[in-house]
Amino acid sequence: MERSLTLGKDQRKAAFGDFQTPPSLARLCCHFLKEMGQLEPASIVEPTCGVGGFLKAALESFPKAHAFGFEINPKYLSAARESLAEYSERLSLESCDFFTEDWSERLKVIPGPILILGNPPWVTNAELTRLGSENRPGRRNQKKTRGIEALTGASNFDISEWIIKHLVDQLKGRDFQLAMLCKSSVARKILASYWAEDRSFSEAFLSLVDAPKYFGAAVDACFFCLSSISQGPKDMTALVCSDFQRTSESRIGYSNGRLIADIETYKKVEELAGLSPLKWRSGLKHDCSKVMEFRRENGQWINGLNDAVDIEDEALYPLLKSSDLMKPTLAKPRRFVIVTQQKIGQETDSLELKWPKTWAYLNRHGEALSARRSSIYKNKPRFSIFGIGDYSFTQWKVAISGFSAKIHFHVVAPYEKKTVMLDDTCYFLPFLSKVEAELACQLLNSQESIDYYSSLIFWNNKRPVTAAILGTLDLVKLAERLGLHESKAFQGMLAANRKPQAPQTP
Ligand SMILES: C[S@@+](CC[C@H](N)C(=O)[O-])C[C@H]1O[C@@H](n2cnc3c(N)ncnc32)[C@H](O)[C@@H]1O
Repeated sequence: MERSLTLGKDQRKAAFGDFQTPPSLARLCCHFLKEMGQLEPASIVEPTCGVGGFLKAALESFPKAHAFGFEINPKYLSAARESLAEYSERLSLESCDFFTEDWSERLKVIPGPILILGNPPWVTNAELTRLGSENRPGRRNQKKTRGIEALTGASNFDISEWIIKHLVDQLKGRDFQLAMLCKSSVARKILASYWAEDRSFSEAFLSLVDAPKYFGAAVDACFFCLSSISQGPKDMTALVCSDFQRTSESRIGYSNGRLIADIETYKKVEELAGLSPLKWRSGLKHDCSKVMEFRRENGQWINGLNDAVDIEDEALYPLLKSSDLMKPTLAKPRRFVIVTQQKIGQETDSLELKWPKTWAYLNRHGEALSARRSSIYKNKPRFSIFGIGDYSFTQWKVAISGFSAKIHFHVVAPYEKKTVMLDDTCYFLPFLSKVEAELACQLLNSQESIDYYSSLIFWNNKRPVTAAILGTLDLVKLAERLGLHESKAFQGMLAANRKPQAPQTP
């Protein structure tokens, strides 16, 4: 028996991604679609219709269309039948398991133009695995189905991503519109994957939805619409509306294999795109802040367990965290971190002689350090850290937090004659001199750089700023545009970064 059938009610609901759309939201969506869409549907298809909230709103908004609703849960299907009785002449409801249905055959006999509408389950493949549920693609009758990996590019994916792409694929060559509630990240992944295949659409738009208000879920959600009409122009951009009232709008697009958050701004600074001549690094990772991080009180080192600890000062480096970098002005480091290695994988046994008190301290907390869950620590020297290398020890850095809500870089200066470490949620460029760091920071905080990065970044992402995005700005092109490329400091910075650097320990 499928394990999900033996689950409790809440787990079963989770396994079926079961959050019915409130009628008020369904009405807003259908109203928005009618205003924005180019297509007058002859048929409306709701593949996971639940109790029929979306179908009702669609039947009201499109009075000439016939609606076809499908649902796996028989109780929901009877509730839908009851609540939609007045529309019975324009409505067909059927029990159906989305993942075993042959949608290609099914859609063939439904008169076009088709509007596919709804709110597919909001659950990930990983969550279903955890729940032991088989309610997902790939188990039976998957003829004419692209493999999950091919469709989603990953083993952990949102089921709704698979559902939407599967439906769009079945409609290739036909006029259709698809309009579904889903996570914004899902809508973006779908657009990126089609645009990567050079597939353009007649229209794509999404309106952000207040998911906490309507579903009590802290998710970045949207109403996502995609249409393909044989006549007329097609392109590879999508309009993003901040809400159904279209309070503010921007347009996402695609360039150089990358999704662009604001294609209009990007076009103005596109020439800066390239490869950074300097490598962006992430900060130090140790996954055990209670043991590895300290504050200083009355000349004593106090760890995260509030124990006063006697260890060698040389083992500790000042530390700045994401929260420090997110402030407009950088304060003095309040924390210090034990740095056990100078490069990844370096043996740590020699610490016993070098810093005996630190060694004894680490051994006292050996259990906590060995219990670090990330697999990166497996089969590595004891007390290993990550995000460490020559670059960590340069005296000067230019840094930004991965959690930033806007583009603002800081020069990180040495503190108490020691280089300052950054935590693993920060990104930085290492520099040998103050003048080079200040110049790089000036370049990176220029309006051109801010426009460039802001056009690429999806600010609602959990960690919007990433090393991958930072690395796409060519600092040489930026310096040229700002007339700073011939300065001694800029040339020095480039030359220094071409040579391998020895650790600059104080
Ligand atoms: C997020 S709810 C949305 C319901 C409805 N579309 C609405 O907007 O109110 C997802 C629906 O998908 C249904 N569902 C889950 N797995 C399904 C499957 N394999 N086949 C068909 N429907 C399914 C659930 O029972 C649930 O009613």
